[in-house]
Amino acid sequence: MEIIIQPSAQEVGIIAARMVAQIIRKKPYAVLGLPTGSTPLVMYKELIRMHREEKLDFSEVITFNLDEYVGISPEHPCSYNYYMYTNFFSSVNIKPHNINIPDGRARDIPKFCTEFERRIVEAGRIDLQILGIGADGHIGFNEPTSSLASRTRIKTLMPQTRQDNARFFPSLDEVPQHSLTMGIGTIMEAKQCLLMAAGEKKAEAIAKTVEGPITAIVPASALQFHQHTTVLIDEAAAGKLARREYYTKTFDEKPDWQHL
Ligand code: PGA
Repeated sequence: MEIIIQPSAQEVGIIAARMVAQIIRKKPYAVLGLPTGSTPLVMYKELIRMHREEKLDFSEVITFNLDEYVGISPEHPCSYNYYMYTNFFSSVNIKPHNINIPDGRARDIPKFCTEFERRIVEAGRIDLQILGIGADGHIGFNEPTSSLASRTRIKTLMPQTRQDNARFFPSLDEVPQHSLTMGIGTIMEAKQCLLMAAGEKKAEAIAKTVEGPITAIVPASALQFHQHTTVLIDEAAAGKLARREYYTKTFDEKPDWQHL
């Protein structure tokens, strides 16, 4: 794993956007795995800026979103579909038919999930999977005890996750109990993963993910088995890492050709 520690959430977002741009410029038909939540907002803003000011072209890019709530419509302001269009898709030149977001209202959920997985394979697999992390170590909505080999499926949300996400809903009662999420096995098949985190609340989950044992209790720890994962975090999220100086030195001394 490569660990990049930046002063604040702002720099985290800017570097994440640069990583995305680097991939798209090299491969215009890149396949991106996308997250929602507060952490990636700066990245989406910066990508929109790059599209407007630097002609970053999304016309051939294909995207797959990590997850979606079950039971709410795509137009619902708290749905991840709505989030993606409002914060990103409506402001860049991505083609609607290249956007894939789990359908939280699919009638036949197992069938939808199989089809979603099939579409990822058909697209040539995900080049860069961007991930947030929950305070409980979840990636996507793969809550603790999720199988580390899991595929896209329905998951019951942990009470803590519902509470953490209640800030986006009018009340806690309105936060759905279930989600559709790519599995950990699905995520692990991406060619490259980028895990982003900011804030003190994430420090423990980050320390366990990077320096703890691989365990289904901390789903993100599975990334230790991934051959190309970058963990991009701010100082606060790095607060509980024991080998922080080593990570900083490694980043500072990167050979030029590896620079972002
Ligand atoms: P956040 O969510 O970016 O809003 O903190 C991350 C997550 O729960 O995966």
